[in-house]
Amino acid sequence: MKIRVLGSGAGGGFPQWNCNCHNCHRLRHGEMKGKARTQSSIAVSTDNKNWLLFNTSPDIRAQLEAFPAIQPKEGIRDTGIKAILLIDSQIDHTTGMLMLRESRNPLEVYCTDMVQQDLTTGFPLFTMLESYCTVNYHQIPLRGQSFTIPEIEDLRFYAHALQSKAPPYSPHRDFPHDGDNIGVVIEQISTGKKVYYAPGLGEVDRRVMETMLQVDCLLVDGTFWTDDEMCTQGISHKRAREIGHLPQSGEGGMIEMLNKVPNARKFLIHINNTNPILDEESEERKILEQNGIEVSYDGLEIDL
Ligand code: MLT
Ligand code: MN
Ligand code: ZN
Repeated sequence: MKIRVLGSGAGGGFPQWNCNCHNCHRLRHGEMKGKARTQSSIAVSTDNKNWLLFNTSPDIRAQLEAFPAIQPKEGIRDTGIKAILLIDSQIDHTTGMLMLRESRNPLEVYCTDMVQQDLTTGFPLFTMLESYCTVNYHQIPLRGQSFTIPEIEDLRFYAHALQSKAPPYSPHRDFPHDGDNIGVVIEQISTGKKVYYAPGLGEVDRRVMETMLQVDCLLVDGTFWTDDEMCTQGISHKRAREIGHLPQSGEGGMIEMLNKVPNARKFLIHINNTNPILDEESEERKILEQNGIEVSYDGLEIDL
């Protein structure tokens, strides 16, 4: 299978439009070795022709323009996007659906019932799109059952609920439910190769660890380096764990968790603009390298 990282940044992207933090400032002024990043999404295919999008970023237009394999091939209107899978209802993961409203066919959207609720209430994208291309909603099962997606050949999916949070706008932000956020295993049926995708991971519980031990490649939450990163930079009072993101450093952090997984290729994804790992010459980046952890970037393609 082929995985294309369309966007490797967290909400806001990098640099963020109104941000003057150490990273955003230095990147804008050419004072740092690092890459700009659009907001969080990947595309997956086994035939290089029919693609499943994981999440639809507000930056989707530029992401598709940078990726010829997914562009129109035949007829007056065409796309390689055959379906969309949403891992939560966050603005950075869903807003791109509005940019796909010109679609000739209904958008085939796979998500949990909790995400469907958010996208018909707090952020009624599905309702709005009824006046455009319309949405066919397919509910993702959460209890370990696998599912397949028409036209996405040779792939099978398993989803499980994660300890995280519904978005700030969600009517149930303060009442977490199974399915507000999910992690997904993507398995190629013919080869048995597996990838685990979890860009919003608040806690590596027993089930997440068991899953990580079974796969060949991990694409997991790379949002923050420290729990208080946004506080110390004077950006927000919110701590990483509070908003559903496990920081990389420190006790019980993502590095420690990933070190328990000996065999998989490991990538961080959904990286916030405040994270020091964005500086390719930073100490923090060296620590990741020493631990065998890679930092994904826009345009990265992983062949598995
Ligand atoms: C998050 O994952 O917490 C988001 O990136 C927040 C946002 O979209 O503003
Ligand atoms: Mn996000
Ligand atoms: Zn910034």
